Amino acid sequence: MQSHLLSVIYLIGSVSFIIGMKMMGNAKTARKGNLVGAAGMGLAIVGTIVLFKGDVSPVIYGLILLAILIGTIIGWMTAKKVQMTKMPELVSIFNGMGGACAALISLIEFNHIKHTDHIIETVQNLIPVEPTSAGALFCMLAGLVIGSVSFSGSIIAFLKLNGTLDKPVRLPKYNIINTIFLIAVFAFSVYLFNVETPILIYVLFAMALLYGVMFVLPIGGADMPVVISLLNSFTGVAAAFGGFLYGNYVMLTGGILVGSAGTLLTVIMCEAMNRPLFNVIFGAFGGGAATSAIGDATKGTIKDISVSDTATLMNYSKRVVIVPGYGLAVAQAQHVIHELEIILEERGVEVKYAIHPVAGRMPGHMNVLLAESNVDYGKLVEMDDINPEFPNTDVVLVVGANDVVNPAAKTDPSSPIYGMPILDVENSKNIIINKRSMNAGYAGIDNLLFYNPKTSMLFGDAKKVLTELVAELKTM
Ligand code: TAP
Repeated sequence: MQSHLLSVIYLIGSVSFIIGMKMMGNAKTARKGNLVGAAGMGLAIVGTIVLFKGDVSPVIYGLILLAILIGTIIGWMTAKKVQMTKMPELVSIFNGMGGACAALISLIEFNHIKHTDHIIETVQNLIPVEPTSAGALFCMLAGLVIGSVSFSGSIIAFLKLNGTLDKPVRLPKYNIINTIFLIAVFAFSVYLFNVETPILIYVLFAMALLYGVMFVLPIGGADMPVVISLLNSFTGVAAAFGGFLYGNYVMLTGGILVGSAGTLLTVIMCEAMNRPLFNVIFGAFGGGAATSAIGDATKGTIKDISVSDTATLMNYSKRVVIVPGYGLAVAQAQHVIHELEIILEERGVEVKYAIHPVAGRMPGHMNVLLAESNVDYGKLVEMDDINPEFPNTDVVLVVGANDVVNPAAKTDPSSPIYGMPILDVENSKNIIINKRSMNAGYAGIDNLLFYNPKTSMLFGDAKKVLTELVAELKTM
């Protein structure tokens, strides 16, 4: 009876993950979706603790509850305090913890095989797994290797994102060294699969941890969102192996969902940047120092515009499209840009935001940032929908965006971003670009849009300039 009840609980948990994920696909329902998924996970955890049929001492229950309490407090407080711009760091740390859990499960269960006669009971006692079976061993070794790589890789990604490790570390021929080491990890796993020597599992653990470090260290800091998404899919797969091992359906479903969502997100990000995953992992692009002073008379001339001229132009426009980019997040100008939008709308100007899928540095970065300042979600228009509207737009205001409006993506086959879909802002009547200097963006390349005769540069920090613009508009 208990195991049937647990099965029902796991089914509810699994369904809630799927419903929660579906709801997270829409900004309006995303918060609720998150809660639905978390509730399903909570139910599965409580169900497992309460309905587990094994012989567990009260001390173990106490330790489990203590661990849940500590984890909840730390997780809650960190998530509450974290700034939006630090979200990728938080995701990388949380992901690393998932990988570590999967690896620890494998370590513990591998030792159970050899040190005791302990039979791994499934949590549900539905599918008894023979601990020494080839399937169980495979799950343990795969979970250990993948989980460990995900853990150490995520920690390095975290350190890169928070600036502690600000430069890619590349040994000579690092690609070859990494590939040989990966083959060694595989070979050692196969050896361990055959000999099952308990002490050697720690050697494999150390090798996999080291590989995770070697894998992420050479990759540029700006590429970390893609790497984190990839490591996220690793964690999901590692957790799914744990689910196979225990015959635990909720763990299996959760792992598969995380694994597939992480893989899809990685693919989507690479496609939107028009860079193959291979190039992200082995290429030297986006090394974090994407600031080359550019500005060349042969490309044309740069035209400045003042805040008051910008205000006048916008005030007398019918349609304005704002293109937010990474610089908006850096300047934390999301609130003042909303203020600008409100003032313009009060004057009868139609204002929309053009959202490029990889603007900023993390998936949905602009959506999250603008949602923080309560911009109406209906005003955020996806790239494919806004592009046909540019010819009817009087003013495009580009704020801290660069690569996502770079025409080289369409016109220059030698450009690293060639083929990346961009926002066709050059089709609008007037283009105003706000940034601090002529420095490049993430891709580290020049942008001929700055030299377009329709373009005017509004130099300065986004928050400062937009605040002045709002003040100027108020006087009109
Ligand atoms: P970028 O091309 O990186 O350009 C951002 C611009 O913002 C810079 O040129 C910078 O110029 C300006 N800026 C910085 N701080 C500013 C401030 N305080 N005030 C005003 N401007 C400021 O950004 P984007 O157009 O959003 O493109 C995103 C890039 O990141 C793409 O290449 C994309 O492939 C890549 N990427 C995206 C993701 C995801 S998932 N979103 C993940 C990895 C990589 P100044 O220094 O002159 O001010």
